[in-house]
Amino acid sequence: GRAEGIVIAIDGPSGSGKSSTAKGVAKARDWRYLDTGAMYRAITWWMVSNQIDVTDAAAVAQAASRPVITMGTDPSAPTVQVDGTDVAQAIRTDEVTGNVSAVSAVPEVRERLVARQREIIAEECAAVGGIVVEGRDITTVVAPDAPVKLFLTASAEARAQRRSKEVHSSDVAATQAALARRDKLDSSRAVSPLTQTADATELDTTGLSLDEVVGLVVKLADEAQTRG
Ligand code: DC
Repeated sequence: GRAEGIVIAIDGPSGSGKSSTAKGVAKARDWRYLDTGAMYRAITWWMVSNQIDVTDAAAVAQAASRPVITMGTDPSAPTVQVDGTDVAQAIRTDEVTGNVSAVSAVPEVRERLVARQREIIAEECAAVGGIVVEGRDITTVVAPDAPVKLFLTASAEARAQRRSKEVHSSDVAATQAALARRDKLDSSRAVSPLTQTADATELDTTGLSLDEVVGLVVKLADEAQTRG
């Protein structure tokens, strides 16, 4: 049995449908939801707001432990705070998006956030019995022993369409170029790059509706719980 609760680990590139899928699954089973990308965005927002040169890895490393990041894990109303300030909107600006790959490539940043993510996973599993965690290194580093491990993909066009909608942009070509740049950085960095492992189930969401994807993942989660 899994008295400590079930972890659903979801990785994939930007726009592959991770956030919507993870939230949908957590809602369907009354579990918690953790957006680890929001944590990297939050620390990036703090660095930018405090005039830390994000291209200076030593400066970023030295400052990495200063901001206190607090995550609310209700999938219907997830929250993210830095030192008690709500930054849900502030972390979605182009400035943060453009700098987050540099900040998240710094080992001290990752060490700190991964430790916090593992604490949240343990606490929430004990409290409600399950958590859906999405990011780039969840299946490989944060929760490699998760009973359900997924790698979400979608065509570059589909991902750019989705992300354009999210940010209310009509320039799909520019969005696609920005996504490609960020994915390249996130997949080629030295520490915990986005990687697809053999034991993660690949799910190509290109031709699927959100309901279909959520349904598939819920089924995998239910099967994993039955196996216990
Ligand atoms: O999921 P997102 O696009 O909001 O993530 C923002 C950035 O954070 C992404 O470009 C790479 C980084 N990230 C990471 O390095 N590791 C994670 N587990 C999640 C996100």
